[in-house]
Amino acid sequence: MKIYRKEGQCAERPHLNLPPETYEEELGLEGFFGLVSHLYHRHPPTSWSGIRKAGFQWPQIENADREFLKPECYDPIHDESSSGNFFESGRLMFHNDDVSIWTHQITEAESVYFRNADASEVYFCHQGSGRFESIFGSFEIRPGDYLVVPKGVTYRWQSEDLYILRVESFHSPFRKPETGILGQQALYHEEGIETPKFHQPAKDEISSRIWTQSERVLTEIQYDFDIRSISGWMGTLYPYKLSVKNIAPVMSSIAHLPPSINSTFLANGFVICTFLPRPLEEPHGALKVPFYHSNIDYDEVIFYHEGNFFSRDNMKKGCMTLHPRGIHHGPHPKALSMQHQMKRTDEIAVMIDTEKPLKVSRFARTLEQRDYWKSWMPKS
Ligand SMILES: [Fe+2]
Repeated sequence: MKIYRKEGQCAERPHLNLPPETYEEELGLEGFFGLVSHLYHRHPPTSWSGIRKAGFQWPQIENADREFLKPECYDPIHDESSSGNFFESGRLMFHNDDVSIWTHQITEAESVYFRNADASEVYFCHQGSGRFESIFGSFEIRPGDYLVVPKGVTYRWQSEDLYILRVESFHSPFRKPETGILGQQALYHEEGIETPKFHQPAKDEISSRIWTQSERVLTEIQYDFDIRSISGWMGTLYPYKLSVKNIAPVMSSIAHLPPSINSTFLANGFVICTFLPRPLEEPHGALKVPFYHSNIDYDEVIFYHEGNFFSRDNMKKGCMTLHPRGIHHGPHPKALSMQHQMKRTDEIAVMIDTEKPLKVSRFARTLEQRDYWKSWMPKS
């Protein structure tokens, strides 16, 4: 039931001219698309003095993965054990039935091809460079490039210095969000999408091996010829590349827009968004930092790629945060106090919002910065 009501002292409208000494929370359903109310707190909802497991738990209900909810931060890029070829360097970070999120620190080229029969994949290149070789042709990958690989494409990675994020979608291919009244050129245009350059390999290899994945099990297929030796391809299914330079952020000069406006790829059960450099809102009194919210209906992962992510304190490049539903997040106190001096932001970050709660891998747990949730606490 959708009936608008208002009580007490509120902002002029959401995100504009908040009552003095108040902090705005957006409490909404369905990831900023459902019923929503704005609450004006006398204290930031993130100014907690403690977060711990409750002294009471419902009988017969266990969640072995997580002792209790809290904002979490991980630093996988500085883990020296995560290196080698594409297969050896894969590290699962977070997962649920719809999506898996991996990092790969590739330091060796790989001769074996990979074919994922479980999931379509999106890669995001954070650091270094590499060559993606597929039977459709090849790409050179550089920092800030997304690469979309449909389920079933056979490919391998050739690099000795490449740090990539890999996102598997188990229940749908990736698609561009509907842009509606923004027009079909919004977000990114087809001209900004690059498809593989097809050419015969300079030198045929005498054999090829493929490791094909189904239900996470790898099966080896051997051929006594070079599997890249096709004469051509045509159709609507192929890998493609999109640089963040070809994504146009949507913004309003007067109102802070919800994070969903930064959507880049949709898949069943989750969305991938890209935060990009952009001017901030102009009028005095307009909120320039994300409003407080507890992202009911979504778990939120952010990968910090480049620039100064000014709403968070001390966020290093390559770090990943997980903000589970039900626990507030929003700007750190320093960002709140500085927001009116800021004219623009230069951050580049990838956000993955998932409908089902995420499980944290055992590997990720070893890299957790355990005091991250305390970084919002008032300094005594
Ligand atoms: Fe958020």
